[in-house]
Formats: sequence, C-alpha cells, structure tokens
Amino acid sequence: MRRIILIGYMGSGKTTVGRALSKELNIPFYDLDWYIESRMRKKVSQIFAERGEEGFREIERNMLHEVAEFEDVVISCGGGTPCFFDNIDYLNRQAQVVWLKATPEVLHRHLLMGKGDRPLLKGKTPDELLAFIREQLEYREQFYSQARYTLDVSLMDNYDKIKITVGKLRELLDL
Ligand code: S3P
Repeated sequence: MRRIILIGYMGSGKTTVGRALSKELNIPFYDLDWYIESRMRKKVSQIFAERGEEGFREIERNMLHEVAEFEDVVISCGGGTPCFFDNIDYLNRQAQVVWLKATPEVLHRHLLMGKGDRPLLKGKTPDELLAFIREQLEYREQFYSQARYTLDVSLMDNYDKIKITVGKLRELLDL
C-alpha cells in the first residue's frame, strides 16, 4: 500500500507535482483543498469568510482524517495543514510525507504568477506578499521540517523540471 502526502508552503507546487506523480504511479490524486470544497460544497475562500481561519482549520483537520485513510493515493495538503493541531504527527503516522521546500523568493514568484484564490494573501502588494511569506515560512518551517522527506523544488519552474522533480521524488521514496 502506498500513501504519499505532499506538504509545503503555498506556491511550492504540491498540486502540480502531486498530480504528475499520481499519473506516473497510476493511482488516484487528492488535493485536500479540493476535497474540502467538494465535501462542503463551498470554496475555501467562502469558508474563511463565513467561519474565519479557526473554523476552516477545524474543517481541514476533519477532512484530512478522511482523505489520509484512503489507500494507494497521492495527496497534496494545504500550505497550513501541517501547522495546526497535531496534524504533522498524524501525517507522519499515516504516510510517506514529503516537504516540497523552496525559498521565499521562489514562492513569491510562483504566487505572483498563479491566479489561485488564497484568502490569506488577498489584497497584498507584491512587497507585502514577500514580507508575509518570509515571516510565515520562518514560523512554519518547524512543522514542515518534521516531514520524513524533504525535496528542494526551488529550481522547478517549467514542465521539464516538474518531470525531473517527480523522478527525484520516486527515487527518494523508492517508488
Ligand atoms: C493555506 C493554503 C491554501 C489553503 C488555504 C490556507 C495556508 O492551500 O489551504 O488558503 O494556510 O497556507 P495551498 O497551499 O494549496 O494554496
């Protein structure tokens, strides 16, 4: 049974890499945010607006406990998932957990390019965004770094590099 879970900051490529890995391994892919949205029939941004971050984190934990029971899957978490409650311990018990690690500058670039609807980043100027990423990453690293595996994805910026990253991931996890 294989269960692989990707964690890391927003913009680190968890969804892109997770989807590509699941295709190669021919097993289903779940993105925790999408799972939450389909179970709750609401966008993550709507849940934040209605219940605040605290309400979202409760839902996120409950939904995590559903998806992380599935077998033979690749799962990508939300950027904050491992940083609340005892989620990182639970993740490590359940799966091969990989932190997709990137510098604040790389994450900043990805997040400026992406059109994702991310409530925590809403309304920030590019400079404010970089400062926010730096500060939040510094705090979150204590959780991310507890992942059993770490893969540096700072150089992953195009399709070829996604393939290379998936290859590295397979090597790392012996898949
Ligand atoms: C969050 C990351 C988002 C989403 C929510 C909160 C975070 O997921 O779960 O907006 O706290 O880092 P992605 O990392 O997939 O953008």
